Amino acid sequence: MNGLKLLATGRALPSQTLSNDDMSRYVETSDEWIGGRTGIRQRYFCAEGENATTLAIEASRLALERSGIPAAEIGCVVVATSSGEYVMPSTASMVHGALALDENIPTLDVGAACAGFLYAVEVARGLLLAGGRRYALVVGTEQMSSVLDMTDRTTCVLFGDGAGATVFELDTEREYVSVQGTRSDMAIRSGCPSITQKVPMQMDGQAVFRFAAAIIPKCVQDLFAKGGRTMDDVDWVVCHQANERILDASIRRLGGKEKFYKNIDRYANTSAASIAIALDEMNEQGLLEEGQRIVMVGFGGGLTWAGIMLCI
Ligand code: ACO
Repeated sequence: MNGLKLLATGRALPSQTLSNDDMSRYVETSDEWIGGRTGIRQRYFCAEGENATTLAIEASRLALERSGIPAAEIGCVVVATSSGEYVMPSTASMVHGALALDENIPTLDVGAACAGFLYAVEVARGLLLAGGRRYALVVGTEQMSSVLDMTDRTTCVLFGDGAGATVFELDTEREYVSVQGTRSDMAIRSGCPSITQKVPMQMDGQAVFRFAAAIIPKCVQDLFAKGGRTMDDVDWVVCHQANERILDASIRRLGGKEKFYKNIDRYANTSAASIAIALDEMNEQGLLEEGQRIVMVGFGGGLTWAGIMLCI
C-alpha cells in the first residue's frame, strides 16, 4: 500500500504551435511522412522568454491552486527534466521559489529522460514516506526544442516542449505498485544546453522503436504480476507519448485498446512531460475519477523505463 492520491493536475504549453507543414520549412519532410510514421500532427516550441522553468512554474501554480492545498503544506518538489534551463539551480528549486513554498522541504530534479516523470513520482513518494510530510508537487517539464538539431529530419520532427504538474497526497491505505529498469545504451543522447551545444539530440530511431514496443508490454505485465491484477482491473493506461505506432504495437500485445490514452497528435514527444500533460488533459475532460486504477509507463534515453499502477 502506501499509495498516492492524485489531488490535482496542471499543464503549460509554449505560445508557438508548429504544424508538420511548418517543420518542412526546416527540413525536407511532409505531414504525410510525420503523421503516418508517428501520429504527430503538431508540436509546441518555446518562444523568446519561455523555457522549461517558466513552463514548470505555470503548470505547478495551476496544479497547486486546483489542489486547494496551502503552499506551506507541500512536502517536496520533484521535477523530471532533461532540458532544464540550468543544471544549477535545479528547476525544482526555481519552482519552489516561484510558489513561495516552505523552506524546510527537499527539492530536486530527476533525469531519467522520457521515463523521468514516473521516476519523479517514485522519488516523491519515498521522500514523503521518509520525511513525514503529506503532499508532493511532481512535475515533468521539457524544452526539447533547445536540444534539437533543426537540420536533422530524423529527430527534429518528433519532439515538442511543454510541462505537466501534479499534486499527490500520501495515503497509507491506497494501492501502489511500481517497477523500474535500466539497460545502459547510447541509442538516444543529447547534450545539456547549459553545458554544451555540441551534442544535439541523436537517436537510432529503429532501435528505440524496437525497445519501446517491447518494454511497454513488459512493464505492464510486470506491474500486473507484482500487483496481482489484469487489464480487466484497470481503468486507464497512460504511456509516454513517443509514437502512436509504438502505442498501437503495445495494444496489439496487451489488449485494452479503449483504455490507452493518446494525445501525441497534438504535442509530439514532450519527453518527461508527456505523462503529466496527458493526466491533466484527462482530468480536464472529466475522465479521471477517484478510485480508478491507472497504469502509467515511461521509457526513454538511458535506456530507462518505469511503470506505476496506482489507485488515484
Ligand atoms: N521526413 C521524411 N523522411 C524522413 C524523415 C522525415 N522527418 N525522417 C527520416 N526520413 C526518411 C529516412 O531518411 C529514410 O529514407 P531512405 O529510405 O531514403 O534512407 C526513410 O525516411 C525511412 O527512415 P527510417 O528511419 O527507416 O524510418 P522509420 O520507419 O524507422 O521511422 C521513426 C523513423 C519515426 C523515428 C521510427 O523509427 C520511430 O518512431 N522510432 C522510435 C523513436 C522514438 O519514439 N523515440 C523516442 C522514444 S524515447 C524518448 O522519448 C526520448
